[in-house]
Amino acid sequence: MQVGIDQIGFYAPNQYLDLTALAQARNEDPNKYLIGIGQSEQVVIPVTQDVVTMAASAASQIITDDNRDKIAMVIFGTESGIDHSKSAAMYVKRLLQLPDQIRAIEVKQACYGATFGVQTAKDFVRANPDKQVLVIGADIARYGLNTPGEVTQGGGAVAMTIAADPQILALDDATSFRSEDVMDFWRPLYRTEALVDGRYSENIYVDFFKAVFHDYCAQTGRTIADFTALTYHLPFTKMGLKGLRAVLPEASEQQQAILKANFEASRAYNRRVGNLYTGSLYLSLISLLANAELTAGDRIGLFSYGSGAEGEFYSGTLVQDTPQLNLRNWFDAYFKQRRECSVAAYEQQFQQQLPAHDVLLDTRADDARFVLTGIRHDQRQYVDRQA
Ligand code: CAA
Repeated sequence: MQVGIDQIGFYAPNQYLDLTALAQARNEDPNKYLIGIGQSEQVVIPVTQDVVTMAASAASQIITDDNRDKIAMVIFGTESGIDHSKSAAMYVKRLLQLPDQIRAIEVKQACYGATFGVQTAKDFVRANPDKQVLVIGADIARYGLNTPGEVTQGGGAVAMTIAADPQILALDDATSFRSEDVMDFWRPLYRTEALVDGRYSENIYVDFFKAVFHDYCAQTGRTIADFTALTYHLPFTKMGLKGLRAVLPEASEQQQAILKANFEASRAYNRRVGNLYTGSLYLSLISLLANAELTAGDRIGLFSYGSGAEGEFYSGTLVQDTPQLNLRNWFDAYFKQRRECSVAAYEQQFQQQLPAHDVLLDTRADDARFVLTGIRHDQRQYVDRQA
């Protein structure tokens, strides 16, 4: 029996910052951001969106009357949680009217959380083939105004159902993972912005990729020649390129050209959304599916990296030929209707944090289906505008 990704959905708010404008405001050469970092736009998150609303919007695209009752577990990966105790999964469960006979849990290990969800879901579905698991990766990447990390901010959510006989990607059994206690990136509980040792984090990322990729190859007897595409966690798209370059010399010239072309397809959407931490690898997978010319049976590699640090390399084979026009059409429409934020408007929204007391928010500028309307009696108030 094959188990894997059956459906996949994405959501990010409808406003963005142009990074050429940001470069000008920060007295940087725009090519540093566009080429050196590999980002051209970044999502701006309004105060009326958080990981719960974004996750509910992403998941609402793939939860229908056909699969709602089959969902037995929600695994919500995030490092931008909204409560020290209650899981974000519980709110999503209610907003999507999922059944009560369900496990709803939040997991955290930086940008790795959703991958833990996928692997746990794979094992669960193997044992319970008539059930499905909803896996969510949702985050808001914040480093601060005028910091080196600012150009690598962003946010959004990816939701996936893991099921038997999947329609998108059948997961292979083999996987290689590794963890080490390192301080490359972290966010103490009292901070809303991450702390990062930037260059160090890049080096650890590449070291982890090489270690888990080669361990996977040793376990399976596969080589780089077995992959039509390698996808990466993309905190910024140049990072994935550095990962790819670390193993490209192992491929033939012809294979190198294929991997490079498919890498370009896999970073197209991330370039315009920015970092969504644990959802980034899966946005890159969507970008590949929507933009590359691949055929059913092609093997895709997935490298997941969460600072702190945990890395995992695993793989799957495509169930259908790509490009998947439904995904491409969705993203074409999304990018077309997004509105640009000036640098001043972005800075103002960046600084507008939720207060630590009851508040009523103005949601008029937010056209999302799910919005945060405020805090009442210390409880976040969520509204489904289609309810
Ligand atoms: N034209 C073209 N390229 C240019 C350029 C120009 N005019 N000016 C500079 N560049 C290039 C530089 O040569 C450099 O390229 P390489 O990385 O290939 O050497 C690149 O642009 C970046 O320049 P700097 O190194 O000078 O950039 P910086 O010091 O301002 O910061 C950064 C870069 C460290 C990535 C910083 O943005 C950062 O800290 N980001 C957050 C941390 C991060 O994302 N780390 C990734 C691994 S951790 C992870 O993956 C988990 C996660 O999600 C956070």
